[in-house]
Amino acid sequence: MRRSREIQGNILAAFNKDYTAFRYMRFPDDDGAGGRGWLSVMLNTVAVTAAVEDFNEEFSLSRRAWGQDPSLTATWVGVSLTFPGLLQVVREPERVKQDLAPFGSFMKGAAARAADLGDHGTSAPENWQFGADGAAVHAVLIVAADTESALNDKLGNIAAADAAHGVTLVHQDDGRTLAGDLRGHEHFGYKDGISQPGVKEFHREDRDNPGFRENRPGATLVEPGEFVFGHKSESGTPPEAPSWMDNGSLQVVRRLRQDVAGWNEAVVREAGKFQPHAVSPDLLGACLVGRKKDGTPLAQGQNPVTGVGPGGNDFTYENDGAGRQTPCAAHIRRTHPRHFETTQRHRIMRRGIPYGPAYTGGHDTADRGLMFVCYGTSLERQFEFVQRAWSNNPGFVPGTEGAPNGIDKVTGTLKQGASGSPDAHIVLADGQEGTVSMDRFVQTTGAVYAFTPSISTLRRL
Ligand code: HEM
Repeated sequence: MRRSREIQGNILAAFNKDYTAFRYMRFPDDDGAGGRGWLSVMLNTVAVTAAVEDFNEEFSLSRRAWGQDPSLTATWVGVSLTFPGLLQVVREPERVKQDLAPFGSFMKGAAARAADLGDHGTSAPENWQFGADGAAVHAVLIVAADTESALNDKLGNIAAADAAHGVTLVHQDDGRTLAGDLRGHEHFGYKDGISQPGVKEFHREDRDNPGFRENRPGATLVEPGEFVFGHKSESGTPPEAPSWMDNGSLQVVRRLRQDVAGWNEAVVREAGKFQPHAVSPDLLGACLVGRKKDGTPLAQGQNPVTGVGPGGNDFTYENDGAGRQTPCAAHIRRTHPRHFETTQRHRIMRRGIPYGPAYTGGHDTADRGLMFVCYGTSLERQFEFVQRAWSNNPGFVPGTEGAPNGIDKVTGTLKQGASGSPDAHIVLADGQEGTVSMDRFVQTTGAVYAFTPSISTLRRL
C-alpha cells in the first residue's frame, strides 16, 4: 500500500502546490476514441502516490534542515472521469452501469444531488459555472505546480493533446495559495488544511497526522478502504466495488464562493447581540469555525495545562459535551465530531485550495472562494453525509443531548422545505450566550462528482 505506484497522486498524499488548475473537459461525440486517445496521453503524465509522497517527504526533510529550497520543484497531474465520461470511453458501458449500481450519487452526478445537499437559490445548479448539465463534463484534470510559469508550461503541453484528440475545455478554475500572512489560510482568514484522517499502512500516527487520540492505540488511523477501493475498510467488509475500481477513489469537486465582506459584517453584528455583554467578533468567528484564525483550536485538548497550540490536532470534545469550549455549531465539530464510533466511517480526505484574489477590505466583492476537493469510497456515506446529515441538519447534536446547538454557519444551510431552525445557539464557559442568526456566506458555484481511476485501469481503457 505505502509507496503505491497504482494509486493516483492526490488521494493519499496531497499535491500541495501554490498554483493548481482545475480543468473540466468534454470528450468528442465519437465512439470513445477521442477520449481514450487523450487519456493515453494523460497516463504518461499522471502522478502516482509514491512520487508525490517521496517528493513531500524530501521537501519537508530539506526544509527542516536548510529552510525552503527553491530548486525542489515538481508539477503534478491527476485525472478523473465523471459517470458520462466513463461511459464514453469504456468498451462495455452496459456492464459498467451494472457495476456502478451501488454508487447511485456518482451515477446521478453532483447537479442531481444538489437539492438534497441544500444547494438552492443562488447555489442551485442553474447558477453554476460548470457541472449544471451533468452530461457536459467528462473529465476533471488537476494540474498543480510551484510557479505560474511551470503551470503554464504544463498546460501548454496538455492543450496540444486536447486539440489532437478533439477534447474541449468546458471551464477552468485557478486555485492559488494566498500570499504573505494568509499563506495556508482560506479567504475568511482561518488556517486550513490542518486535520486530515491518517490512513493505516500509509501514514504514521506519530508524524504524518497527529490526529486525535482517544487512549486507543491506532484510533486516529482509518482503514485505507475508506479512501481507496480494493482495500480493507472500517467495517471490515470490502466495499461492493468491481475490480476495475481497485486503487481508485471517488472525487468531489465543489467551487465554493465566499462572501468575505458579508461574513465579516454578520460576525460583527451577531457578536454584538451576545448577553450579558457583546463578545469580540474574533471570538465569535472562532466559535463558528472551532479554531482561531491562526489554527489554534478552541478545544483544550487532553492536557488542560499546555492546551493545544496553533495547528494542533490532538483533542476530542469528550470533556465538552455542552459545547462550552467548542460550540456544537462549530464547523470543525459538525464535520468531524471526533467520537470514534460515529466518526470514522464518515471521514473525508480534503484537498482544497483557495481561488480568486485575497480580500482587501470594505465592499470588495471579487469572485473568491475555495476549490473544495475531497476523496472517499462512498459519496453517500462520506461527503454527502457530512454535508447533509451533519452540517445542514439542526437535529444533529455533536455533543450531549439538549446541548446548545445549531447548523454549521460556515457551510451549512437548511434544505429547502426542511423543518428546524437555521440559527445557532451558543453558550460559552464564562456564561456568555447568544443566538447566531445569519445565512451561510458560502455559495456553491459549480460541482462535479468523478472517479479517479488507478494507473492500471487508465491503461486498460
Ligand atoms: C476543517 C473552512 C468547506 C469539511 C476546516 C477548517 C477550516 C475550514 C478553517 C479548520 C482547519 C482544518 O482542520 O483543516 C472551510 C471553508 C469552507 C469549507 C471556508 C468553504 C468555503 C467544507 C466542506 C466540508 C468541510 C464543504 C464537507 C462537507 C471539513 C472537515 C474539516 C474541516 C471534515 C476537519 C475537521 C476536523 O477534523 O477537525 N474547514 N471549510 N469543509 N472542514 Fe471545512
